[in-house]
Amino acid sequence: MIYIIANWKCNPAGVKEAKTLFAKIMAKARGLRKIKLIICPPACYLPLLKVSLKNASLGGQNSLWGDCGAYTGELSPRQLADLKCKYVIIGHSERRKYFFETNETANRKIKTALDFKLTPIYCVGETAEEKEQGRTLEVIKNQLDAGLAGIDAKDAGKIMIAYEPVWAIGTGNACAPADAKRVSDSIRVMRGEDAVVLYGGSVNAENAVSYLKEAGYSGLLVGGVSLKADEFAKLMKEAGKA
Ligand code: PGA
Repeated sequence: MIYIIANWKCNPAGVKEAKTLFAKIMAKARGLRKIKLIICPPACYLPLLKVSLKNASLGGQNSLWGDCGAYTGELSPRQLADLKCKYVIIGHSERRKYFFETNETANRKIKTALDFKLTPIYCVGETAEEKEQGRTLEVIKNQLDAGLAGIDAKDAGKIMIAYEPVWAIGTGNACAPADAKRVSDSIRVMRGEDAVVLYGGSVNAENAVSYLKEAGYSGLLVGGVSLKADEFAKLMKEAGKA
């Protein structure tokens, strides 16, 4: 099974566009047997998007580290689960950069998401500066150790890890597959051979297969291209050949 996560981020701008994009992607995903598609739209669209395929699910892009309550502007994993989400992205680098999230808040969010039976997709990745300093594996290890601290073995296997080098996100400068492989290998040493490890960062139809085949990833986390139905369809088709 190859996981393809569509991270729409804060897009598109309106209900009509969201419904159209979703319908197009659903139509293109029909019959792609090897692909498990997870669409993560902005939360406001979740109740309006009905998944009609067995191999597709909805996911959130973030969730609170607590249950419902007095947390203005937040979204509880209980609410995501009620909206039929099965997955939630946690610790995305944009959350870390713009909304001051840390490994510690990610850790609390992952635990609460698990309490509500959501599968967390925990994002890790080094900045350009950390890469230049040769600290990639050290940074990933820290993010994994702190982000997954105190999670018992029976739950650890339910968490997906997404390696997203910060410098590769939205830049068109995707990570070289050989470098990405070094990271997936080392994540599997830390988390076990069966860990579900995804790659994200400027993934497109042309480079998708290299991460799945050469670099040994279990799936892809796709931002920009997931907003373009035709290109995304090509990407899913290519990934299905891996
Ligand atoms: P990108 O985003 O595919 O636009 O680089 C990936 C992500 O941030 O998840």
